[in-house]
Amino acid sequence: MGKIIAIANQKGGVGKTTTSVNLAASLGVLEKKVLLVDADPQANATSGLGIEVDAVEKGSYQVLEHTITAKEAIVATNSPNLNLIPAHIDLVAIEIELVDKTHREMMLRKALDPIKDHYDYIFIDCAPSLGLITLNALTAAHSFSIFCMSSTIICCPKTKQLQHDTKINRTKRFTILIFYECF
Ligand SMILES: Nc1ncnc2c1ncn2[C@@H]1O[C@H](COP(=O)(O)OP(=O)(O)O)[C@@H](O)[C@H]1O
Ligand SMILES: [Mg+2]
Repeated sequence: MGKIIAIANQKGGVGKTTTSVNLAASLGVLEKKVLLVDADPQANATSGLGIEVDAVEKGSYQVLEHTITAKEAIVATNSPNLNLIPAHIDLVAIEIELVDKTHREMMLRKALDPIKDHYDYIFIDCAPSLGLITLNALTAAHSFSIFCMSSTIICCPKTKQLQHDTKINRTKRFTILIFYECF
């Protein structure tokens, strides 16, 4: 079964997308089958993998609203063994659309369920927010990594609160990666 890993932090500019793209691409080179889900309306993982963001018509937005299947949204990339579910700026609308749905936090998990066994790893590049998109990513994930710069290490207690607030299953593996600013 594929491991689903969310790369998250409510703060922007801490290396989530850079890590998601490079980790996914590196594992692809190592002949692992990898899917990267761009769950950030800024779509930096999508553009970073050479996909034209403005042309994305089937992406994480449609997957989250269940109007298409995850399989229908998957595109190949130039990187070996690396597939992508791309994002588009329209993904921001999902925060409003899902708000009154029951099980709104389960939309991504349900969508990834039929395809998760096709991959060794599925990475979810999260938006810098604690909204419904990130909640969906954390609910879908088997484990998650939260990035902190050393100067923002004060975020860490908040990330623990996030774990509590979002009712994430306590059995999930939870890692905080601290990046020191001397890199
Ligand atoms: N390990 C790293 N070392 C140095 N710079 C990095 C590293 N990871 C990311 N960056 C830089 O930090 C900036 C923000 O990275 P990004 O991955 O877009 O963050 P996020 O997705 O958390 O908003 C980018 O300019 C990126 O090149
Ligand atoms: Mg990013």
